[in-house]
Amino acid sequence: MKRFFRTKSRDHMLADLNGGEHQMHRALDAWHLTLLGIGAVIGAGIFVLTGHAAASCAGPAISLSFVLSGVACAFAGLCYAEFASMMPAAGSAYTYAYATLGELFAWIIGWDLILEYLFGASAVAVGWSGYVVSFLRDFGLALPASLAAAPFAYDPGVGLHLTGAIVNFPAIFIVALMTALLVVGIRASANVNNVIVIVKVAVILLFIGFGARFIHRANWTPFIPANTGEFGVFGWTGILRGSAVVFFAYIGFDAVSTAAQEARNPQRDMPIGILASLAVCAVLYVAVSLVLTGIVSYTALSVPDPIAVGINAAGESLRWLRPVVKAGAIAGLSSVIMVLLMGQPRIFYSMSKDGLLPPRFCAVHPRFKTPYVTTLVTGCVAMVIAGLFPIGVLGELVSIGALLAFAMVCAGVLVLRKTRPEYPRPFRTPWVPVVPILGIVLCGVQMAALPRDTWVRLLVWMAIGLVIYGTYGHRHSRLHGKTVNSER
Ligand code: ALA
Repeated sequence: MKRFFRTKSRDHMLADLNGGEHQMHRALDAWHLTLLGIGAVIGAGIFVLTGHAAASCAGPAISLSFVLSGVACAFAGLCYAEFASMMPAAGSAYTYAYATLGELFAWIIGWDLILEYLFGASAVAVGWSGYVVSFLRDFGLALPASLAAAPFAYDPGVGLHLTGAIVNFPAIFIVALMTALLVVGIRASANVNNVIVIVKVAVILLFIGFGARFIHRANWTPFIPANTGEFGVFGWTGILRGSAVVFFAYIGFDAVSTAAQEARNPQRDMPIGILASLAVCAVLYVAVSLVLTGIVSYTALSVPDPIAVGINAAGESLRWLRPVVKAGAIAGLSSVIMVLLMGQPRIFYSMSKDGLLPPRFCAVHPRFKTPYVTTLVTGCVAMVIAGLFPIGVLGELVSIGALLAFAMVCAGVLVLRKTRPEYPRPFRTPWVPVVPILGIVLCGVQMAALPRDTWVRLLVWMAIGLVIYGTYGHRHSRLHGKTVNSER
């Protein structure tokens, strides 16, 4: 049994990072990392899922849901920051779990992170497709519906069923394009990302600034619509379920930590990148959701492009803003897809270096210095998922996967403070154990608020992962045959 809980020491990890043919290029500073975080975070969550969550869960109080999930992310972010500054390795929560909770938990998190990054990229690609279709339609270019929608849909009463569509082609296209950019190199990719981040933040600020003048207080009354009698449908439980749904909107700030190996000064810059990107996004989300539900009744927001609906409701004087916002959303969603597609290969890379995945997965391109094999594998799988499934199913699965990972990172901080108090921690999570415990509790409560079907999918995914670990990873682990916790 002990072998399942063997851990990898920090020295062992740092030795892995120094030298060798698999070294990555260190090109990113604190500013790049913050933009990387914002680039990963602001996306389909605010541009697509906010409207759905307001209409079906929380009403105008969706802004409170954003506060609640933002607080949970802040606690988890503080824990991520301690790990990211202490272990600037490419594997994010996977790496941290390997150092604290042991190999089995590391595998579970690594497998779980595929939901967050790879499935996350697919979900956002589906949102991108929706805005592109809507944007082109405004200019008289109608894509055939059967080639721009998911062939599968899911309804609680009916189960998984066919929609009549063939494939979501625009979603496949954007994943393919971003994968190609990432194979070519992180420096070029980060520069593209920086421009896009500025565009999407500007678009959101325009919406807040101009939209605020059209708020009707009547739309905020009642601010918390009465619960219908069903858990999660308005009222306080609606705010809770809403927070789990819009949690998706915060996912991505931890992608900063997956770039630790490409940061110039990870000890100083990782915490700045994680916390600054999270703070900027939280403020923007609360403001957007207040303005949106103030301009238009929340009941009208269950649409693929709620921000555009809000602008329409403001009247003719804001008509010019509509194509601007759609174009900004399209650019913004592109950068989210790129950052998520960048995080996943780096987690595979770390798992492969540890022997839990085949050695081919840690190949770095001789010229571009990127983990191109895992980038291509990630891109191909993400294309298939994006082409076949709707954003609702993918979004909830991504949220539950991320919440689980975040809770485990918080637990990891508690464990490592006890087992390795002597490690240098350039950034220390404040108020331990209160912050990690609150992080675990808030993530757990939000997971509990998600529907049962989403839980079943999570458990099936984890079961598949455990079979792969049992048949491959466990036997090929680089710690296999070594004394357990030999570094102690
Ligand atoms: N936070 C990202 C988004 O909202 C995943 O698109």
